[in-house]
Amino acid sequence: MHAFNRKQFDKSAKQQKLGRNDKCWCNSGKKYKQCHQAFDDKIARIADQGHLVPHQEMIKNADQIAGIRQSAKINIAVLDYVAEHIHADMCTEEIDRMVYDITTKMGGIPAPLHYQGYPKSVCTSVNEQVCHGIPSEDIILKEGDIVNVDVSTILNGYFSDSSRMFCIGDVSPEKKRLVDVTKECVSIGLKEVKPWGFLGDMGQAVHDHAYANGYTVVREIGGHGVGLEFHEDPWVSYNSLRGEEMLMVPGMIFTIEPMVNMGKADIYVDDKNQWTVYTEDGMPSAQWEIMVLVTEDGAEVLSY
Ligand code: MF3
Ligand code: CO
Repeated sequence: MHAFNRKQFDKSAKQQKLGRNDKCWCNSGKKYKQCHQAFDDKIARIADQGHLVPHQEMIKNADQIAGIRQSAKINIAVLDYVAEHIHADMCTEEIDRMVYDITTKMGGIPAPLHYQGYPKSVCTSVNEQVCHGIPSEDIILKEGDIVNVDVSTILNGYFSDSSRMFCIGDVSPEKKRLVDVTKECVSIGLKEVKPWGFLGDMGQAVHDHAYANGYTVVREIGGHGVGLEFHEDPWVSYNSLRGEEMLMVPGMIFTIEPMVNMGKADIYVDDKNQWTVYTEDGMPSAQWEIMVLVTEDGAEVLSY
């Protein structure tokens, strides 16, 4: 799936050869002229002005949204369960077991398990781990730690994805503020999600709030489209500019999941496991992730 410029958009429209009286591509059963024709024309005009616009595969129909919503219900329930059971002196392997057990009991599959060789059902990233922390019996949560638990679920082929931060016991005011401000970044970004705006509206809002608080935002890793696959286009940056990046239209689903660092934005990947990402300067990093649907008049949070 790709982001389209105008030339590619025209080509795809021609390949479809949809006449005004043909059935719409969205499976509504309605005629194209009574369904998405004006919508497609509007997108084409915006592409004409030089903007990136979504491909039709990024625009979910009602059935797909219903399936993704069901998947997200499991994702939320799993994170709620983790929230109730996470505590000091437990190993992150225990979180992995909880995620696997609750997900499968509810009929889902943990999306991370065996994803591109990933060995576990969830990512647990502690303190200076930015993301993709691999659960282990050797990693024991201790009072003062901050940990991101990143849960992703497959149900009937539909994907959901969200993550939360947890503070273990009493954490330092500095770490607590990092966790709180990162959550605010996501809420402030969410306010910018509406049809016919641009992903950069959201990205800049996230960025500006983090930097106004003296933090930095990881540049190399971002959010993503999600729903029919784990990671779909578009790639979502939180170092972007208002009015830039892809056009948002109703039916798009993507994540807001900035990684906010207390120190510098620079990161590196663990040499041995090739997964876990750390801050270069060893300072703490926080991340919250929500999965958002662009609606006719704003946004709906599908998973959190
Ligand atoms: N859940 C992560 C995300 O937000 C991806 C984890 S990939 C895995 O995109 F393989 F490590 F699970
Ligand atoms: Co994600």
